[in-house]
Amino acid sequence: MKKILVTGATGFTGTALCRALAEGGREVVAFVRPGSRTAALQDLGVECRVVDIKDPGAVAGNFSDIGLVYHIAAYRVELADRDEFRQVNVNGTRNLLDAARAAKVRRFVHCSTVGVQGAIDDPPATEEYRFSPGDHYQVSKMEGELLAMAYFHGGLPGAVVRPVGIYGPGDSRFLKLFRPISKGRFAMIGSGRVRYHMTYIDDLVAGILLCGTRKEALGEVFTIGGPRYTTIRDLVAAIARALGCPPPRWRVPFAPVYAAAVICDWLCRPFGIRPPLYPRRVEFFHKDRAFSIEKAKRLLGYRPEVDLEEGLARTAAWYRGQGML
Ligand SMILES: NC(=O)c1ccc[n+]([C@@H]2O[C@H](COP(=O)([O-])OP(=O)(O)OC[C@H]3O[C@@H](n4cnc5c(N)ncnc54)[C@H](OP(=O)(O)O)[C@@H]3O)[C@@H](O)[C@H]2O)c1
Repeated sequence: MKKILVTGATGFTGTALCRALAEGGREVVAFVRPGSRTAALQDLGVECRVVDIKDPGAVAGNFSDIGLVYHIAAYRVELADRDEFRQVNVNGTRNLLDAARAAKVRRFVHCSTVGVQGAIDDPPATEEYRFSPGDHYQVSKMEGELLAMAYFHGGLPGAVVRPVGIYGPGDSRFLKLFRPISKGRFAMIGSGRVRYHMTYIDDLVAGILLCGTRKEALGEVFTIGGPRYTTIRDLVAAIARALGCPPPRWRVPFAPVYAAAVICDWLCRPFGIRPPLYPRRVEFFHKDRAFSIEKAKRLLGYRPEVDLEEGLARTAAWYRGQGML
């Protein structure tokens, strides 16, 4: 019986996926970086191999016992080395695809992002909506996805998953919203009327596993999201309810904050300083991002189970339990 490879296994999604696979009795291998924290994976019984996905030889040399691949790893550091996006998210993906094809794996699931579609003019967007990546990370994810699809159309059995914003216990990205709301220091940037779509981690893992097992997934792209999207204003109010706080009332106009973010980024970047405000952070309040999950429901039987209110309550409880708020 060949093993299941998970890349990005030390991350939020990768760890949750490894837990689901290990609990299902599957033998899981993780390709990790030399400095990666692997204790949680080792507790799950995951075999951690130090393999640099940017090194084609190292990748190919570790595929002889692999039968199924979940490629979750991605480079997406805020103050990023722009070349590294391409090296990891495109070239690293190519190395894995080449090795998977040579090893004749039975399936390759590639994790992309709805970010490849950028802002949505007429939400919700389906998988067929145009590509319009808005930054270097999203461009590299689009190129990685297109590359994976070219291999899938060339005979490698595989599927692409595009998650929407992922949240839940284990995440730290949405602390940027939870923390200021919990401290009464949150100010809405702009009207708050744009839409945003989130997926609870357990639902995402269920969607990824369907892409790894259902024959209907082969050669297809699936947006995996939660049961519903909301406006940012409603999302913030729901987070406040989950935290037991009054809903935030302050609002600041978008344009001057965005201008400040551009200037801040421009001043900090040459010195390698992480800007306190940068365009991508502010764009969260401006870009409409709501997606249809009908294709995954129809072809895969995907049924997200965790409603936003319930998921936010679990997330708030987890942040509190970790002393993060
Ligand atoms: N989070 C979201 O809201 C969101 C939304 C849409 C799509 N996605 C996609 O979903 C996937 C998982 O996201 P996540 O938020 O769960 O990720 P995450 O927690 O940020 O974890 C990223 C993983 O990628 C690994 N990685 C980073 N740079 C690497 C490199 N140079 N070589 C090899 N591995 C590297 C990290 O390893 P280390 O532990 O060594 O750093 C970690 O295991 C990604 O493909 C991402 O693009 C995420």
